[in-house]
Amino acid sequence: MNILCPSQYLKKLLTSKNNKEKVADFYNEATEDYHFWSHDYNMHFGYYAPFTTNPFRRDTMLNEMNNQIFKQLNLTNEKQFVADLGCGMGATMKYGLQQNKKLTMIGVTLSDFQVLHGNKNLKNNAGVIINENYNNTSFKNNSLDGTLAIESFCHDGHNSQSLKEAFRVLKPNKKLVIADAFLKKNTKDLSIASNYCYQQLCKGWSLKRLGNIHKVKKELAEIGFRDIQIKDLSFRIAPSVLHVPFAIGGFVLKKTFKRENLKPQSIENLRGSLFALLSGLQMNSFGYYMITATK
Ligand SMILES: C[S@@+](CC[C@H](N)C(=O)[O-])C[C@H]1O[C@@H](n2cnc3c(N)ncnc32)[C@H](O)[C@@H]1O
Repeated sequence: MNILCPSQYLKKLLTSKNNKEKVADFYNEATEDYHFWSHDYNMHFGYYAPFTTNPFRRDTMLNEMNNQIFKQLNLTNEKQFVADLGCGMGATMKYGLQQNKKLTMIGVTLSDFQVLHGNKNLKNNAGVIINENYNNTSFKNNSLDGTLAIESFCHDGHNSQSLKEAFRVLKPNKKLVIADAFLKKNTKDLSIASNYCYQQLCKGWSLKRLGNIHKVKKELAEIGFRDIQIKDLSFRIAPSVLHVPFAIGGFVLKKTFKRENLKPQSIENLRGSLFALLSGLQMNSFGYYMITATK
């Protein structure tokens, strides 16, 4: 057993950060790196649709993912108020706002960097980004016409509190749409290789854990969501996942040529990206899903 003396314990207590602080630090430092992944600052994987998207042009697939999410939300032609729960730089918000002029959006994030720079990207659009926790937002009960969460709920382990909060703020008959990676089995049933990739992925990208897709479906139903539809998008996102080694290689080369040091958060981000690719290859353990659930 590792016993710490009181001064070591105090130091550890003062320097150890909770998950929220780690996520905020990660995105405050590493968000800029995503410009290498997407000129529009889409911080997610892409949706490949034959004849619509070009598998060699990443941004067409990343924006198609935004398109698919808004399609699922089923917004009407009236004034609509939608929240992006874990909005990054607001790329998805901007996409939706430019397609639908009657839409107003609020995005929540833990990163002050994203609040500052994301709001600049959203200038002249009916959207704003605020620093709030998606587990405990200031939205009123039954106030939203839609909620979406792309690759964001994984940071808190697809916690049931995140799902409950989305349920609380939605108007009746309105939808929550999630696009994210999930486990297909319990962690104790992962092979040694899968478990190693999973641990490295979570460490690199500051994820508490990934939810088990079967359990998340059950939890959504227990919370009160109905018409829960789960689509396996693993093959749809595969072409954009295959861009990862090239994006990483290009990013590192650029930094080397410019003689710039990689920040610790950038190194963690590269580690997360690499292990996302390796995890994605283990299709018996991991899958990428779009979940649509109606209140
Ligand atoms: C991978 S980025 C995805 C951003 C965006 N959805 C996109 O696809 O471009 C994850 C986002 O989730 C946000 N996030 C993570 N945990 C959060 C929490 N507890 N509350 C609010 N936002 C959170 C991060 O700040 C970051 O903006």
